[in-house]
Amino acid sequence: MKNPIKFLLLLTVTGFILISCEGPMGPAGKDGLDGLAGKDANETCKICHNSTSVDLISVQYEFSKHGYGEAAFEEAGSTSCGPCHLQEAFKYVCKNNTPVAFVNTAGVYSNPYVTSSSTAYGEIGCSTCHSSLHTTFAGTEFLPLTTTAAVPMTMWSGTKTINLTQKGGESNLCIKCHQPRPFTRSNTTDKNVLNYAGLVSAPTAVFYDAAQSNSLNVLKPSYRTHTHYGTAGAVYAGQGGVEFGTGYANSWHTTGASCQDCHMAPITGKAGGHTFVAKGNFNGCNVTGCHSATPITSATTTKYWKLTRDAVKLKLDQLAAKLTIGGVDILNRNGDAETNLWAGLTTNNYDGYLNIYDPITNPTVQTYNTKSFQYIGTPPSTWTQAQKDYNATLPLITLTNAQMGALINFQLCLRDYSLGIHNTTYTTTLLTNTIAALP
Ligand code: HEC
Ligand code: HEC
Ligand code: HEC
Ligand code: HEC
Ligand code: HEC
Repeated sequence: MKNPIKFLLLLTVTGFILISCEGPMGPAGKDGLDGLAGKDANETCKICHNSTSVDLISVQYEFSKHGYGEAAFEEAGSTSCGPCHLQEAFKYVCKNNTPVAFVNTAGVYSNPYVTSSSTAYGEIGCSTCHSSLHTTFAGTEFLPLTTTAAVPMTMWSGTKTINLTQKGGESNLCIKCHQPRPFTRSNTTDKNVLNYAGLVSAPTAVFYDAAQSNSLNVLKPSYRTHTHYGTAGAVYAGQGGVEFGTGYANSWHTTGASCQDCHMAPITGKAGGHTFVAKGNFNGCNVTGCHSATPITSATTTKYWKLTRDAVKLKLDQLAAKLTIGGVDILNRNGDAETNLWAGLTTNNYDGYLNIYDPITNPTVQTYNTKSFQYIGTPPSTWTQAQKDYNATLPLITLTNAQMGALINFQLCLRDYSLGIHNTTYTTTLLTNTIAALP
């Protein structure tokens, strides 16, 4: 049944392409309108399949990392990475409203936010967000978007929800994926999500120390101990930090603007529209009701851009400077812009990972860090004897609750990438309070 239909569709499109080569553009729009009335399903193809809609947007989309990024291939088959990286998996968790609250099975918690093994594939593409495409062929199926519903946050085991209702909740579509993954108490038997409030209430308590009984250590730090990349949505909504101190509030953006306003603003260069890139496109900033009175026009505009970003960068630098033990950085440096997505956002080019020796996953570790902390546990057999010997000479890391919270906040704000543009108020308060919480 299915194959003949597909064949017919392809034929129709081919036919359409031939016809469109012959004639001028004008009448095509008229045909499209006829199609909308539902008289002739094939005619409606042209409402979308024309040079100003799908064809054009597909060209813009070539500049979107959603399309050219490689994570969808690398994570294919993974039911836990899938909900944010794979098209069919994302549609599955939206359709089934898959819960995020960790499930307690005889005292051991597990994360239920996974897709089924039969839907763990698919590059992010048009129908990831426009899941009704090619259903009715009425020519209107770009809407509804796959989801605009409130997003229960996986990092909080569902105890907190983000719901940005402006612009029909369109930001919620982005945040469903652009939210951090949970930190879990991976070294404990319960494996539950990390309790951020507990880090704040007992800042000087030991979080990790190899010298204490292993059962007291909540998780074993490694080079890879990190807040997963999708932090923009959480910072934007003013959620996701280890909130030391008081005074938390959000900038106007949180309730006034939506992700689309800046990331899908009218295209300029290779930014805007369906490239989803904000970098270098200030069109969204200056619409009436936003910054039209004091426009932001380039990366050198001071007010609302350079001053804000410089101030946040300084705070990240200050926080990193406090995250040292015996003169050794807790945070990893990586000056290579190919492998460090956040190169240039801090003076020392931190990448949000930890400075724990690991020559396999972090081959440039000794290029950018003068000294690292020791790899904890038995090194993998792939290490050379020289690497093992060197590792043994390095100091072992210890962490207090305050230091653990601080490195989570550092990673959150660094990987938000906008240096405070998303939510200046929340970012500034979080970083200021975190710096103050460290001795
Ligand atoms: C609501 C808009 C819309 C309508 C109506 C529509 N399409 Fe599409 N179609 C799309 C989009 C979006 C894509 C994906 C384009 C891309 O991936 O770059 C697509 C892709 C396709 C493809 C390529 C599929 C592939 O696997 O590469 C074919 C063939 C196609 N459409 C045929 C049709 C035919 C035939 C009709 C009319 C019966 C039709 N479409 C109506 C939006 C539409
Ligand atoms: C299905 C999940 C999903 C949805 C929905 C989604 N994104 Fe993404 N987005 C991703 C993933 C995953 C990546 C990284 C892809 C890669 O590197 O292979 C990404 C990359 C990006 C990037 C590029 C980041 C970089 O490092 O260069 C931007 C910008 C972005 N998304 C913005 C948005 C906006 C705005 C929306 C809402 C309109 C949105 N995304 C919706 C999953 C999603
Ligand atoms: C809750 C959503 C979510 C889950 C679950 C998730 N990711 Fe991601 N991941 C993202 C988003 C969003 C981005 C892109 C963020 C950006 O660039 O700002 C990303 C980026 C990445 C990148 C970086 C791609 C690049 O641009 O270089 C890798 C690698 C990655 N994820 C791997 C994984 C793996 C492996 C898993 C499963 C163990 C996983 N992710 C699970 C949301 C998620
Ligand atoms: C990451 C999510 C996402 C992906 C992927 C995506 N879109 Fe969109 N698209 C949106 C959002 C959100 C809007 C609404 C934008 C707005 O509010 O201005 C939209 C709007 C549109 C519209 C205008 C619809 C209308 O009726 O206003 C068209 C056409 C469209 N998209 C086509 C495409 C095509 C073609 C692709 C694939 C090449 C694609 N989209 C991929 C999120 C996405
Ligand atoms: C007020 C404008 C604005 C809004 C609204 C906005 N962003 Fe951004 N976003 C930016 C800017 C500016 C950057 C950094 C671009 C640069 O480096 O110049 C950025 C960076 C990003 C990045 C990293 C891009 C990259 O190239 O690595 C992601 C992902 C992202 N934003 C997602 C979102 C999501 C999801 C939302 C909605 C919850 C959102 N943004 C809302 C302005 C905005």
